[in-house]
Order: sequence, then C-alpha cells, then structure tokens
Amino acid sequence: MRAFTILLAVLQLVLLLSLVSPATSCAEQEKHALLQFLTGILGDGALTASWRHETDCCEWEGITCNGDGAVTEVSLASRGLEGCISPSLADITSLLHVNLSHNSFSGGLPPELMHSSGSIIVLDVSFNHLNGLLPELPYLFTTERPLQVLNISSNQFSSKFPSATWKVMKNLIVLNASNNSFTGHIPSSLCIGSPSLALLDLCHNQLNGDIPNTVGNCSRLKVLKAGNNHLSGILPIEIFRATPQKKNNLLEYLSFPNNGLQGELDGAHMVKLSNLAILDLGGNPISGNIPQSIGHLKRLEELHLGSNNMSGELPSSLGNCKNLKTIDLKINKFSGDLGKVNFSALQNLISLDLMRNSLSGIIPESIYSCSNLAALRLSANHFHGEISPRIGNLKHLSFLSLVRNSFTNITKALHVLKSCRNISTLLIGKNFMNEAMPEDEAIVGFQNLQYLSMHHSSLTGTIPNWLSKLTNLKILSLFSNQLTGPMPSWINSLDQLFCLNVSNNSLTGEIPIT
Ligand SMILES: *[C@@H]1O[C@H](CO)[C@@H](O)[C@H](O)[C@H]1NC(C)=O
Ligand SMILES: *[C@@H]1O[C@H](CO)[C@@H](O)[C@H](O)[C@H]1NC(C)=O
Ligand SMILES: *[C@@H]1O[C@H](CO)[C@@H](O)[C@H](O)[C@H]1NC(C)=O
Ligand SMILES: *[C@@H]1O[C@H](CO)[C@@H](O)[C@H](O)[C@H]1NC(C)=O
Ligand SMILES: *[C@@H]1O[C@H](CO)[C@@H](O)[C@H](O)[C@H]1NC(C)=O
Ligand SMILES: *[C@@H]1O[C@H](CO)[C@@H](O)[C@H](O)[C@H]1NC(C)=O
Ligand SMILES: *[C@@H]1O[C@H](CO)[C@@H](O)[C@H](O)[C@H]1NC(C)=O
Ligand SMILES: *[C@@H]1O[C@H](CO)[C@@H](O)[C@H](O)[C@H]1NC(C)=O
Ligand SMILES: *[C@@H]1O[C@H](CO)[C@@H](O)[C@H](O)[C@H]1NC(C)=O
Ligand SMILES: *[C@@H]1O[C@H](CO)[C@@H](O)[C@H](O)[C@H]1NC(C)=O
Ligand SMILES: *[C@@H]1O[C@H](CO)[C@@H](O)[C@H](O)[C@H]1NC(C)=O
Repeated sequence: MRAFTILLAVLQLVLLLSLVSPATSCAEQEKHALLQFLTGILGDGALTASWRHETDCCEWEGITCNGDGAVTEVSLASRGLEGCISPSLADITSLLHVNLSHNSFSGGLPPELMHSSGSIIVLDVSFNHLNGLLPELPYLFTTERPLQVLNISSNQFSSKFPSATWKVMKNLIVLNASNNSFTGHIPSSLCIGSPSLALLDLCHNQLNGDIPNTVGNCSRLKVLKAGNNHLSGILPIEIFRATPQKKNNLLEYLSFPNNGLQGELDGAHMVKLSNLAILDLGGNPISGNIPQSIGHLKRLEELHLGSNNMSGELPSSLGNCKNLKTIDLKINKFSGDLGKVNFSALQNLISLDLMRNSLSGIIPESIYSCSNLAALRLSANHFHGEISPRIGNLKHLSFLSLVRNSFTNITKALHVLKSCRNISTLLIGKNFMNEAMPEDEAIVGFQNLQYLSMHHSSLTGTIPNWLSKLTNLKILSLFSNQLTGPMPSWINSLDQLFCLNVSNNSLTGEIPIT
C-alpha cells in the first residue's frame, strides 16, 4: 500500500514536470502583447528580425523572462525606435522593468503603463519625443502602485504637472521629470502620496508658484532639483527638517537655480543639512548674508550663490568647509575684507568666483595655499595691493581674472605670474593705472597662455618684445592704454593669434597682415 502511494507520488511528479517544462517558454498572451507593441513601431526597425511569432519570445532581443517563462523585462534603449508606445505592454502581468530610453517614441505615455499595470517597478522612457499630457490619475483609483523608478526626463511633455497621480505612488523612490515643458505648480500632494522619494528632479520645466512645504514630508530625499523654472516664494523651512528616525536631514543635493526665489538663508535651519554636498541657489533674488553656520556643513563640495541679491561680509567659517571644490558668489553685493576668510584649509578648492561684488583688501595669502585651484576670478571688486610671489604655488591655475580692481605694480605681477605654468587665460586690465608697460626680457614662461588682456590701464611704453615669445597666444587685448611706438613686425609670427585689439593707443605703422 505504502509503495503504491510513493509510486503514485512519483507519477504525479513526472506528470507535473512534463506540464511545467513547455511553459518555460513565453506564454501566448504575452507574445501577443509584445507583437501588439511592435505594431506601434514605425518601419520594420531592428526588432522584426528577432521578434517572430513562431519563436519563443523569451529569446527575443531586449526581452528577459524569469524561470517560469514570464516576461519580466523589456530593455530596448537606444535602438532607434520610432512610433508610439502601445498600452499593450501593460497586459504583461509579470513585467518589472521597462526601458525605452534614447529612442524617438512620440505621442503620449499610455496611462495603463503608469496606472493600471500591476507590476512595473522601473519605467524609463527618458530621451524620447513623448508629448502631450502625462496621464493624470483617474479619479476613483486608489490601489497602490508598485512603481519605484519613473524617468520621463528629456521629452516634450507640456501638460500641467499631474497631482492626483502621486496618491497611489507610495513606493516611488525616483522621479525624474526634468527637461520637459511641464506647467503649473509643484503639487503639494507629491510628497504626501510618495513619501519615499529619494530623488526628485523637476529642473528645466515651466513650473511656477511656491515650493510646497509638504516637500518636508519626503523625509528620505537625498536629491532635490528644480532649477530653471519660474518658482517663487521662499525655501520652505520644512525642507530642512530632520527625519524623525535619524537625527539629520538626508539631503545631499539641493538645487533651485534660475528661479524667482526670495528671502534669506536661515542659518539656524541650514545647519541641519549636515549631509549636504551641493547647494545651488544661483540666479534668484535671494537677499541677506551667508550665515556663519555654513561652517557646519562639513560635506559641502559646491556652493553656488551667484547672481543673487546677497550682501554682507563673507563668513569666516567658510574656511571650515574643507571639502569645498567650487565657490561661486559672483554678481552679488558682498563687501568687506576677504582676508576674514582663511582659505588655507580648502585644499580641494578648484574654482573661486567672486566677480562683481564690493569685496576689498589684498588677496589673502591663504588663497595661495589652495594648491588645486584652477580658476580664480576676482574681477570688478575693490581689491588692491601687489600680487604675492606665492601665487606661483598654484600649479594648476589656468584661469585668472583680476580685471577692474586697484592692483599695483604690473612688473612684479607679471614676474610672479610667469611661475603659474598652466595659466591659459590671464585678464588683468583696469588695474595698474598709469604704470609703465614692463619691457623686461626676463618675463618668460607663460607657455600655455592663450588669452591675455591688459586693457584700459593707461599703461605707458611700447608693445614689449616678451610678448613675441607667447607662441600660443590667440587673443591679445591692449586697448585703451597710452602705448607709443611702432607696431612690431613680429606680431605676424604669432601663428595662433586671431584677435588683436590695440585700439585707443598712440601706436604708429600698420598691423602687418599675411
Ligand atoms: C536604460 O538604459 C540606458 C541605456 O542602456 C541606461 O543608461 C539606463 O540606466 C537604463 N535605465 C534604467 C532605469 O536602468
Ligand atoms: C533614468 O533614471 C534612472 C533613475 O535615476 C536612472 O537609473 C537611469 O539611468 C536614467 N535613464 C537614463 C537614460 O539616464
Ligand atoms: C534626470 O535626467 C536627466 C536627463 O534627462 C539627467 O541629466 C539628470 O542628471 C537626471 N537627474 C538626476 C538627479 O539624476
Ligand atoms: C534635454 O532634452 C533634449 C531633447 O530630448 C536633449 O537633446 C538634451 O540633451 C536634454 N538635456 C539634458 C541636460 O539632458
Ligand atoms: C507632513 O509633515 C508635517 C510636519 O512637517 C506633519 O505635521 C504632517 O502630518 C505630515 N503629513 C503627512 C500626510 O504625513
Ligand atoms: C536686495 O537686497 C536689499 C537689501 O540688501 C533689499 O533692500 C532689496 O529689496 C533687495 N532687492 C530684491 C529685488 O529683493
Ligand atoms: C589660517 O589657518 C592656518 C591653519 O589652518 C594657520 O596656520 C594660519 O595662521 C591661518 N592664517 C591666518 C591669516 O589666520
Ligand atoms: C592645465 O590646464 C588645462 C586647461 O587649460 C587642463 O586641462 C590641465 O589639466 C591643466 N594641467 C594641470 C597640470 O593642472
Ligand atoms: C614693484 O615690485 C618690484 C619687486 O618687488 C620692486 O622692486 C619695485 O620697486 C616695485 N615697483 C613699484 C613701483 O612699487
Ligand atoms: C582711451 O584710453 C584712455 C586711457 O588711456 C581712457 O581713459 C579712455 O576712456 C579711452 N577712450 C575710449 C573711448 O575708450
Ligand atoms: C577693441 O576695443 C575697443 C575699446 O577701445 C572696443 O570698442 C572694440 O569693440 C574692440 N574691438 C574688438 C574687435 O573687440
């Protein structure tokens, strides 16, 4: 009796296996859905050769199945596909990943893919020509969707940014809708519906209105970008909220450049962003000063506050942000002695841009210890004094602009700057008023110099011979000085030179043209 039962069990198993094995190739219904999708694609494309009805669709190009022969992945990025995206993909019940990025699909994104499909976790349709409306959620829909990653960036969507849709997107972690033409507000429902968002990129759209304070309900946000829109109002303090579980706010990347944001940076709130690496609020009408508490942002790598309405002295604590690589404070109303900031700990600094402010003092010696500095722009401020020989420490310096300040001793400046071996752009005009153009043959070096401007300084003397050795020079500006004497014939030997401006001097002769 017992042996018989075992035999029966074995027979059952064999029967079961023989039923299962043909099913590991794709099911008819899924094949049908894929072929339906294929009919939406224009031309015969690259797919028709592989996507043939008589073959197993698990073997088709771009298709992945699981062990049970169910289609789980459709990966058709960069295949030159044109046409529209068929809603039939939503009929594939085990589908998890859909990647149609970098094609030329046009038309809309079928609502079925976002809303009624049961299983899609990752939907990437970025870099296509999709347009029209992004499907808004049908009103009575309340079932939670599994979607975690939605990348609809770099398309041509121009509708109002949906708001109800997010109600069912509890699992959404990444939403990239950048580089479209979405209009309307950032919906306040977004972070209520999708509280798990870690990455939200809405930049380069036409969004307006305030940043809703509900963004604070996205307590896992690491990346928040909405630059190049028409947003107004202030940065809501809820953005700075610490998460309930962790002591600190998780934000690493906070970026709202080129909007209409107003108000001031609130020091007491800003300190909570202890994970912040990038702060970009450039191109807004933000006013007030940079709070001292910025010194607590130990992970800060990029600070972009250029083209705002900010004023006051730079906080000395800026020198504590040891990871800073980029400081951009140009076109503001910052004032006071730059020497208040000790730059010597900023060993990672690559770019410092303070153009068009009212900063004063000499160039702080501490800047010369930032040995990685490649770009330094101090133009249009009130700096004075001589350039220190220590500038020669800046071996990576390739861009230096000191234009429109009150620096003195051009002879010394050129002698010390020639040790910056990598300098390719040197703009020192509107300084050194009424000094003599150095004619000293010992000004050598500048092997990489391509753009030299010493304009508008009322320099006296002649066009010096040392310029003839700058064989890589492309642009030379000497206009609005008081240079006399003949135009040297060697000017012809500067093979790379394509722009020479010597207007408003008292030179004689002709510019030889060959
Ligand atoms: C989609 O494919 C492209 C190209 O292979 C790739 O860069 C991108 O990361 C993929 N998207 C997702 C969500 O994996
Ligand atoms: C779309 O976004 C996802 C999530 O950030 C990313 O993994 C994927 O690489 C992006 N797609 C492309 C083509 O960059
Ligand atoms: C969003 O997608 C665009 C491409 O469309 C990409 O450049 C950008 O880096 C993405 N955003 C994030 C935060 O990954
Ligand atoms: C924005 O989208 C256009 C068109 O799809 C694309 O050519 C461009 O590279 C995108 N820009 C970014 C920053 O991704
Ligand atoms: C959103 O966050 C606020 C605190 O900033 C909290 O009072 C509110 O209950 C949160 N809303 C939801 C729906 O979680
Ligand atoms: C710019 O800041 C000043 C204070 O420094 C303030 O009086 C003025 O209203 C601000 N302008 C704008 C456009 O916000
Ligand atoms: C700047 O800080 C360094 C130490 O990081 C110190 O040695 C130096 O004296 C300081 N310079 C000034 C001008 O305070
Ligand atoms: C010199 O400057 C150029 C750009 O002008 C840059 O590509 C190169 O890496 C620099 N070299 C060094 C040693 O910094
Ligand atoms: C310019 O600096 C050099 C070198 O330090 C010095 O010898 C010279 O006297 C200075 N010239 C003026 C006008 O101060
Ligand atoms: C010509 O140069 C002098 C300085 O040498 C300057 O003061 C004057 O403004 C310049 N004129 C024009 C028209 O730029
Ligand atoms: C040369 O400089 C003068 C200023 O003296 C300016 O008006 C003119 O536009 C400049 N020419 C070129 C070609 O840049």
